[in-house]
Amino acid sequence: MPALHDIAAETELWDTYATSVFDPQAEPSFRWTQYEGHGPGPELLGDPERVLEVGCGTGRAVAYLAGRGVKAKGVDLSPVMVGKVSEKWAGTGAEFVCAEVLEYLGDCTETCDAVYSMFGAVWFTDPGRLFPLIAARLRPGGVLVFSQPPAIPGAYGPQGMYKGGFAGRAMYTYRYSYRPRVWEHLLLRAGFTEAEARVLDAPEPGHIPTLIVRGVRGPGAATPGRTPTPPTGGPG
Ligand SMILES: C[S@@+](CC[C@H](N)C(=O)[O-])C[C@H]1O[C@@H](n2cnc3c(N)ncnc32)[C@H](O)[C@@H]1O
Repeated sequence: MPALHDIAAETELWDTYATSVFDPQAEPSFRWTQYEGHGPGPELLGDPERVLEVGCGTGRAVAYLAGRGVKAKGVDLSPVMVGKVSEKWAGTGAEFVCAEVLEYLGDCTETCDAVYSMFGAVWFTDPGRLFPLIAARLRPGGVLVFSQPPAIPGAYGPQGMYKGGFAGRAMYTYRYSYRPRVWEHLLLRAGFTEAEARVLDAPEPGHIPTLIVRGVRGPGAATPGRTPTPPTGGPG
């Protein structure tokens, strides 16, 4: 059964998150993993002129790329977060839009060289709906790169997640977890011609690793639509 997203309720959840994580002293930074100084950097995006981060949260990576001359835009569901980051990073050249990612991409006519997400909207959105929309907004040869924690063994497909604390008003969202081979399969079905998903170990043995996925958009015309999403990790 598909996950029953309630976007108004998820917006409230992410607004609460924005209030707790926003750091007015933060500096621009760019990292795919949970660990400072660990893993690859922006080179996974190639040498883009124009990029879009989906679920950009604190906007640190958008500001980092904008500071290096890239036309960088971030889209995020939370009006609280977008309000804070638009003010925080004003003057860097970074641009921020408050929107739900599927709606934003469905209406968008711009094309970019790279779309990326770091524990962001790709984690929280049905890839069967999201990937074809991203492919349609990438130029041929453009890339999608995203990172998030790998699936917990045996727990595949949409995973319900309550807001931290397990007390108070019931606020929840969904996040999507699959095995690396299934992520690759989902990208290939959505119009990407190359797809690589790998799990990068944490710096300390036994700590939570990072899933990093990269797809290259093929030369043909991308047709936005829905590709069926396996409800449980599929045959991978
Ligand atoms: C864990 S945070 C991202 C962290 C981010 N990389 C950073 O450095 O702050 C996830 C973000 O995704 C956004 N998000 C979740 N679902 C979304 C959706 N459907 N459309 C757009 N943004 C979404 C949330 O508002 C939140 O700011």
